[in-house]
Amino acid sequence: MSLKKYDKRILLTGGAGFIGSHMVIHLVNKYPNYLVINLDKLDYCASLKNLECIKEKPNYKFIQGDICEPDFMRYILQEEAIDTVLHFAAQSHVDQSFWSSLDFTRTNVYGTHVLVNASYEAKVKRFIHISTDEVYGGSSECTNTESSKMKPTNPYAATKASAEFMVQSYFECFKFPAIITRSNNIYGPHKYPENVIPKFICLLKNGKKCFIHGDGSSVRNFLYVSDVIAAYDVILHRGVPGEIYNVGSDFAISVMKLAEYLVKKMKGSTENVLDHVEFVDDRPFNDHRYSMDSTKMHALGWRPMVTWEEGISGTIAWYRENFNNWSYAEDALRPFPRGSNTMQLGHTSSLAKSF
Ligand SMILES: NC(=O)c1ccc[n+]([C@@H]2O[C@H](COP(=O)([O-])OP(=O)(O)OC[C@H]3O[C@@H](n4cnc5c(N)ncnc54)[C@H](O)[C@@H]3O)[C@@H](O)[C@H]2O)c1
Repeated sequence: MSLKKYDKRILLTGGAGFIGSHMVIHLVNKYPNYLVINLDKLDYCASLKNLECIKEKPNYKFIQGDICEPDFMRYILQEEAIDTVLHFAAQSHVDQSFWSSLDFTRTNVYGTHVLVNASYEAKVKRFIHISTDEVYGGSSECTNTESSKMKPTNPYAATKASAEFMVQSYFECFKFPAIITRSNNIYGPHKYPENVIPKFICLLKNGKKCFIHGDGSSVRNFLYVSDVIAAYDVILHRGVPGEIYNVGSDFAISVMKLAEYLVKKMKGSTENVLDHVEFVDDRPFNDHRYSMDSTKMHALGWRPMVTWEEGISGTIAWYRENFNNWSYAEDALRPFPRGSNTMQLGHTSSLAKSF
């Protein structure tokens, strides 16, 4: 069977999740000359509702599957003649990683190894690995450049750092054309409400209190999702194989200040924040802050465009309408997720659903 001609044949993993779904929509709409195949396991945090707007487009295809299955991944890459891979699929929630870290190793380390190896065998021309600023660890002392040492301080970050080493090894050994991106916390529509911004928004919307881990002094940099998508588009077209790119924002806020901001915005400017928060145990280890230097991305012509005020207003409006996009959204609103390494590998996420 001859394949329809496209200028790029892209496999995007994790495209039913938060950032992946925005990237799928962006690519499908902006580049009708690219085929975009979205491969996703449809874990608890995924939602195909996020992709309704493009599901009928001729240059889009969805495949339900697991990146941890070598034969299946080899088959898809070769059968679809994939030339470009964008790897978003991951277990991505730091809090969950404290309790279910083996599942993180399976998807983030082993799954990435399976994918990079199958992509190498299929002679893929560009492999973009989506990583995180968390690999640097949470020092408040320095601003990390791409050559700073990786010093992960939680199991999620450790698996993401390990995955990077695996991807880098294929570049070093085989000159496999891989590129790594590391970004700050991303916020915006489509995220399963387990991360701090959508979680606080949904708790406040449902008349509940925001849970503050520890004293709330941890600071996070936030970047709006359309800005990171613009960065990935630049890297897809102008990034250099073998390079790492920090994709960061200058906007930083402490968790306590974030809660205060959202309380005043959603409940009214005269509200007392202390009436809407509850202090709970801290994470086993809570990085104080991540700070990154994104000069390399700026040199490629990328800058964040969306202000905090614009981004957060759009995000609140979206969650007011779409909280029910996930069957298990209520589960996300507990202070800490439940999970355990005693669960059988590969089944943690589906078991977690039934709690
Ligand atoms: N969200 C952030 O703030 C942020 C910041 C920096 C980097 N990242 C990275 O960006 C990527 C996407 O993050 P996100 O927040 O969109 O995550 P997400 O949890 O919303 O989505 C992850 C997607 O991957 C899928 N998936 C999980 N395991 C899979 C497997 N074994 N096979 C196939 N699909 C699988 C899930 O079903 C889900 O749709 C991740 O690699 C993450 O580490 C995220």
